[in-house]
Amino acid sequence: MSKQPIKVDRVWTNANLATLCPEIGTPYGRLEGHAIAVTGNQISWIGPNAEVDSCLRASETVDANGFWITPGLIDSHTHLIYGGNRCKDFEQLALGSSYEQIAQRGGGILSTVMATREMSEQQLAEQALVRLQALCAEGVTCIEIKSGYGLTVEDELKMLRAAKLLCQSINVHLRTSLLAAHIIPPEFKGRSNEYVELICKELIPQVAEQKLAQAVDVFCEDIAFDLPQTEKIFRAAEDHGLAIKAHVEQLSHLGGSALAASYKAWSVDHCEHLHASDIKALAASDTVVCLLPGAQYFLRQKHKPPVAKLRAAGVSMAVATDLNPGTSPFASLCLMMNMAVINFGLTPEEALTGVTRNAAAALGLGHRKGQLKLGYDADLLVWDINDPAQLSYEFGSLNLVQRVIASTTIPDTVNCPLAQKGV
Ligand code: NIG
Ligand code: FE
Repeated sequence: MSKQPIKVDRVWTNANLATLCPEIGTPYGRLEGHAIAVTGNQISWIGPNAEVDSCLRASETVDANGFWITPGLIDSHTHLIYGGNRCKDFEQLALGSSYEQIAQRGGGILSTVMATREMSEQQLAEQALVRLQALCAEGVTCIEIKSGYGLTVEDELKMLRAAKLLCQSINVHLRTSLLAAHIIPPEFKGRSNEYVELICKELIPQVAEQKLAQAVDVFCEDIAFDLPQTEKIFRAAEDHGLAIKAHVEQLSHLGGSALAASYKAWSVDHCEHLHASDIKALAASDTVVCLLPGAQYFLRQKHKPPVAKLRAAGVSMAVATDLNPGTSPFASLCLMMNMAVINFGLTPEEALTGVTRNAAAALGLGHRKGQLKLGYDADLLVWDINDPAQLSYEFGSLNLVQRVIASTTIPDTVNCPLAQKGV
């Protein structure tokens, strides 16, 4: 008896799929000569081209003409919302000052805090729009945005609300993290433990109650928060049902990565100064290491994350922009993929996995995003490329034909050569 065809909203036929599903067992989880269908907000069918007619009844059929389809790109670490810029720091870095020296002189994060406090929610969202547009034009369909330049209860909440406001104006899935523990605010100079109390007793409860963030982040570093303070904040996050992410071992080694792994953090980010024991702790956990090649490059750091050792230990690696005014003013995830390959030694397949499957895991979304898989969110990108390695190989001239994101069923057409080619 033949099976009834499945009703779907739209099917792309004659496609090559980079599914990023490890179970498929091919590089990139590639399936050539396949079709993929979506219904509502989900991927509803994937199968060989030859089976489309017998298996599907589609409201709309698009001939993908041999184009490649990948999951939407996910930028799992950004500080997209901020006031002003840090051109002056850039000049000082060029003259030989270090990031820490600039911070100690009152520049650095603190100067962005002052500029951010001056701005309204609306102004912050407006200033960030151009950056978000650049990311989305390149294929980002899901983004994480951190607070961390407010450092008062009011200003931190303002930043998180600005992120929400911003993402209402553009079709992108938003995740937010509270990074009140970015640096010690000037008002708390010499009283950092009191600021940690404020974060734990006031900010985290309010953010959890108002559902303004899914995670809490901490900058665990000599110039920011020490290990006991970091642990206090992790505990408060855990008590309020918020996930944990952390900036760790970026400029020195404090042990934040192993601590975060023991708290089942979604990700530990930067990791230029990881020790062998940290890698062991991470390998025994589900915590993703999020690599930020833009910051390592911008700060001209000698240390690089120990990618070969992480790979050998089976630790999942994500790649993100870290888009921020002080260490990574780069609104391009494809550039980060390229840097991750050239400067950090990832393969092009690892780089793409780092901005899809592993980025989803770094945001607690591994069960629904980052792979082309039945039941997963219909976030997909149609590319006029002939190999998925092109995504980290080329930069600035990639042809993203169509960007479809599940939060709405309306496709977001980028520059549709499909139409020009009469398909
Ligand atoms: O991820 N390391 C801490 N935070 C950011 C930098 C923020 C800034 O300098 O404004 C980072 O590199
Ligand atoms: Fe960061």
